[in-house]
Amino acid sequence: MLALPFSLSRLSLAQIVALPRIYNVAMAEIMFGKPVADGIERRVRDEVKSLSAHGIIPRLDVVLVGKSAASQRYVGKKMEFCERLGMQARLHTFDDHISAGELRDQVQRINDDPAVHAILVQLPLPRHIEGPTSGLNKFDVFDAISGPKDVDGISRETVPELYRAQAERMLHLPATALAVRRMLEFYGIETEGKVAVIVGRNDITAKPIHHMLGGRMCNATAIWCHRYTRKADHDRFMRAADIIVTSVGSERYRITADLIKPGAVVIDVATRVGADGKLNGDVDFQQVKEVASFITPVPKGVGPVTVAALTENVVRAARFAHGLAQPGYDFASSRDAYLRPAISS
Ligand code: GUN
Repeated sequence: MLALPFSLSRLSLAQIVALPRIYNVAMAEIMFGKPVADGIERRVRDEVKSLSAHGIIPRLDVVLVGKSAASQRYVGKKMEFCERLGMQARLHTFDDHISAGELRDQVQRINDDPAVHAILVQLPLPRHIEGPTSGLNKFDVFDAISGPKDVDGISRETVPELYRAQAERMLHLPATALAVRRMLEFYGIETEGKVAVIVGRNDITAKPIHHMLGGRMCNATAIWCHRYTRKADHDRFMRAADIIVTSVGSERYRITADLIKPGAVVIDVATRVGADGKLNGDVDFQQVKEVASFITPVPKGVGPVTVAALTENVVRAARFAHGLAQPGYDFASSRDAYLRPAISS
């Protein structure tokens, strides 16, 4: 118990709130995903209802290659969630020996079906499709998805607007980036002019989040660290960061409290199943929460918001397919809808 040199009753509310930081016993606010996901879910349910009044049921088709237990679990969760909100979800499975060319043709076939509103190719793909730098590879598969159906935001038609930071023309912001955006909005975290460090180079997480934070949508100074970043540089950038978003997911990578600037916002997008069967992120949560001002847990942080954000994109795709929506996210005017409700006492 701390001995305070004054009576609490003589302090204003603002002074009382600041006490933990003054006495260096600050603990971060935990950014749980559930209230954010619930808010998105409410809006999606309303939209599904209004589309069904027009005879439209949004439909997501998922492409799964191979038998990875983790991928099967993720896919199951996403499809279940879509169905729970009144949408349709179809699964297309392929053997992991399928060639990049064959997979591209299969995705093209699914894409050509007008009944399909949205397509997601579950990642990672087998190494012979992810890896090659010559011949056909994963990008040819992504490019078989037309922009309005590309709810992962990874195709040739979708990516440029993120690169150009044209939110008002964007078809789909990748679900994890959209989830991070919704989390920042909900918890009232400003990004403009802040130093943001993004760790990882994944096509659907770190890469788009880097562009989102550094571009005109967030106006942060975005520093991108990855496997080729020297450790000394990585540590220096980390210690300067106001906002950290990490998406590595390797047991060899750990963000420890000594790398965190007091008061930083720490968002852990990584998910890795440890030897004990538990889900882990990149961040040493117990230690870092003593230094940060905001921190996401793993599980129960960004994960549920990402699934909800995907359903937001599926509804967009259905609206595009029926000429009921134009591209673009209006983040400025929708901001209030995604803020945390004021606490009434
Ligand atoms: N693998 C893990 N998460 C995701 C996701 O959100 N989208 C795709 N396509 N693959 C994933």
